Formats: sequence, structure tokens, C-alpha cells
Amino acid sequence: MNDAGLAESAAEDLKWHDAMNALQPGNRLLRVVEEEVYEGRCLAKIPVALGIREPAYNRRLNVPASALERGELSIRRQAAPTPKWRNARGFEPSTKTLATAVGAPAVTREEVFSGDPYNNVSENIFSKMGRNLHHQEDHPLGIIKNVIWEYFDTLDGKAFEKFDDLKPIVSTEMNFDQVLVPKDHVSRSPNDTYYVDEETVLRCHTSAHQTETLQQGHDRFLVIGDVYRRDTIDATHYPVFHQMEGVRVFEPAEWEAAGVDGTEFAAKELKETLEGMTRHLFGNVEMRWVDAYFPFTEPSFELEIFFKGEWLEVLGCGVMQQQILDGAGGEGKKAWAFGLGLERLAMVLFEIPDIRLFWTEDERFTKQFKAGDFTPGGAGIKFQSFSKFPPCLKDVSFWVNDEFTENNLCEQVRNIAGDLVENVVLIDDFTNKKINKRSNCYRITYRSMERSLTNEEIDALQEKVRETMAGEMGLELR
Ligand code: PHE
Repeated sequence: MNDAGLAESAAEDLKWHDAMNALQPGNRLLRVVEEEVYEGRCLAKIPVALGIREPAYNRRLNVPASALERGELSIRRQAAPTPKWRNARGFEPSTKTLATAVGAPAVTREEVFSGDPYNNVSENIFSKMGRNLHHQEDHPLGIIKNVIWEYFDTLDGKAFEKFDDLKPIVSTEMNFDQVLVPKDHVSRSPNDTYYVDEETVLRCHTSAHQTETLQQGHDRFLVIGDVYRRDTIDATHYPVFHQMEGVRVFEPAEWEAAGVDGTEFAAKELKETLEGMTRHLFGNVEMRWVDAYFPFTEPSFELEIFFKGEWLEVLGCGVMQQQILDGAGGEGKKAWAFGLGLERLAMVLFEIPDIRLFWTEDERFTKQFKAGDFTPGGAGIKFQSFSKFPPCLKDVSFWVNDEFTENNLCEQVRNIAGDLVENVVLIDDFTNKKINKRSNCYRITYRSMERSLTNEEIDALQEKVRETMAGEMGLELR
């Protein structure tokens, strides 16, 4: 029986309908795992089926589209009789079958909207959670993810473990403290980060998972996921994007055999590994290492490549601060870590001009990408603009108050206009000394990636923006 067949029969077994009813849009069922459990402990996880995508389920199982809008992603049950070979181990384990729709476990409203005064997650952000673009094999982000994974699979030695479904809601402890982000670092500000409450955030980088994953005993791993940052609006910034983190731990014997100290050994191995990865993605390009600073690594570097006539930053990395490794059970060892943003790589490789396009479901975009077409340097996949619809520009001037920040304004505009807003830019800033007031003028560019907008709808959006500025934001419009 092929994989799909297996899954189908498992499906019946598992009352697949119930599982499907619980899926969210964009999720797909990818893994069916049998868990062998003995006295409450999981002894083994045995994959029994892989690679079934949502559309097939939709068709075969007749799941109403509306049902895909609800929570919960995994179901468990006692499985069919335990195969004989397991009894040979001398005990009677029970087996469970886990059907996991790969994806961050569904995020519920309650988890995100806490009612806490610190809570600053918007509806617009919530609507992106659980989309899991990086799980779609033929999505540009899924393609980049798999190309990088593939590269790590070619390396000698123990395989890198891969995590692409860790939950994006994490503690401030994980997101900041465990990776030594200073208490006064700007990234901790609610102007920069989405808080659920004072101690819980939407991760702003995948480094949030370094410590927990090390603590679980993993010493070579890749974590990929959606990360969230409050930011301004333009073609390359979006409040949700995707990062990949890599960590590799070394034993003293490894650097002793090489006759160098641990830091030097790790740094060298790091650079070689990442240069290989970069060639796997970009082909034979010129590269340079630039010194950098991150709170979690020392020394720290950025890798830049000369690509299509420009120097482009590919990733940040370094030798993990010993305190992090020691705190995660790695005393006496050494490690390296790197982090990269997938959207930026996909944008340059495939010539995708606007970061909003990653979120569109317009087939004129999605149908252009096929995993099998990838070639290093991206030549096998080139995005063809399907058309450029006219922009519509609106200016708004106001007296700045103490609470005003550009990020707050952008957040409000996104909430009102969603992906119809392309750019928000400060075009005038002056202080009237006589009355000691500061005036700003912002230009908002509206443009759809998919269709022409009407004047009426833009006017209505702009009117709402003005109302929100004058109301909720307490600004005096001019
Ligand atoms: N977390 C860093 C960022 O978001 C990237 C990074 C990861 C740098 C690991 C060094 C080591 O920019």
C-alpha cells in the first residue's frame, strides 16, 4: 500500500472526520505517528504515513470548508492490536496513534487575547497564526525550507533534527532571558514585540527555542517557524515572517583532536557549514564574513553574498554564549548557532517584489512555484508579475502626542486595510516653536496585489484610519 493508501485506512480508523473538522485553513495532515507507550512513557514514535495534503483530504473526506476554520490539531487513540514484535521486548506496551496535522498546534483566541493590560496582539495578527506557510511544499517559503533541510541531510555524521511545528506563543523567559537579551534591550518593548501578557509573547525569533531544545537533549537541530515583530510597513517588512534557527553542539574530544580551542573549532566548523549551505541555495557566489553582535553568541558574524550586483546579508550566527549552553545541560561543551529569515532569501532568489505576496492565495502567484523546479541561484523559478495595479496615495497630518509611535500607527493601518496597504512613510516632520508642537505627515500607499481598488473603498479605509487616529490614538488631526 502506498503512503496515501495507508493514511486513508488509518483515516477511517481514527474517525478522520473529527480530526479534519478541527483543522484550520492552511493546515494539512502530514504525519501519522504510532506512539508506543509503556507505563505512561513514550518509548518509540513510529511514522506510519507521510505527506498527505489538505486538498486531497478535502476531496476524499468531504470536509466542509467551514469546518476548516476551527481549532485543535491532533487526536490520539489506542491503536489496533499491538504487533507481535513489540511483545518480544518482554512487556506489553500499549500503542497510540497520533494524527498530527503538521503545524503549530492550533492557536485559540483565548491564548492570544488575554484581556491583560499588556496584551497588544491584534486581530490582523491572530488571523495569520496557524497559516503555516512553511508547511506548504510548493510555497516559496516551503521550497527554501526544504532546500536548506536537504543540505543538512547531506552532511556527514549524525543527522540534524528538524522542528517546524513549535508553538509561536512562548514565555518572555524563552524569548529573551534564556538567550541573554538584556533587560533594557529595545526588542523587549511592547512597541516592538507582541505581548499576550507581561510574561508571554509571540516569539520574535526562533532563538526562543534554543534552550528548551538543548534541554531535551538534542545536539544538532534546525527550528523553523513564524515569528512576529511590530514594525513599519513597506515592501520588505511584514509583522509575521519566518525564520530558521540552527544549532550544533560539540564534545571536547572533537576540538582536542583538532588541537585548537573549542571556540575556534566551533567558529571554523560554523563558517564551513554555512558557506556550504549558501552555495546550495545561491550557487557559486562571492561571500564575505562580517563581524556582528548578538546577545546570544560570541564571537558573532553575518554572512554576506554578492548576488545580482549587490552585497546581501544572508544570516546571523556565532559561537553560542557558554552561559546558554551551560544552562541547558551542555557544561563543558561548545556550540554554534545561526538564524536566517526565509522571506528575504525567497524574495531575492525568486524575484518576489513585495512581502505581502507570500500570504496571497491568488493562484496567479501560488501556481508559479514548484519545489522540483528549484536550482541553486534560483534560476529555475522566477516570479512573473501578473500585473501591477495602480496605487492610491493618501496623506494624513497631525500633531504628535507623547504616546505616538510609527509602529502603533502601522499596526492600526494594517488592522483596517490588511494587505491592501503597501507602504506607510513619514514625508514631513516639523516643530512649530511658537506653540511647541510637532507635526508629522504620513503618506499611506494603498494597492492590491490582486485587483484594482475603487476610489470609494480607499476613501472608506482612509476615513477609518483618520477616525482611529483621532479616536483611539488620541491624535489631533490637521
Ligand atoms: N535571532 C537572531 C535574529 O533574529 C539571529 C541569530 C540566531 C543570530 C542565532 C545568531 C545566532 O536576528
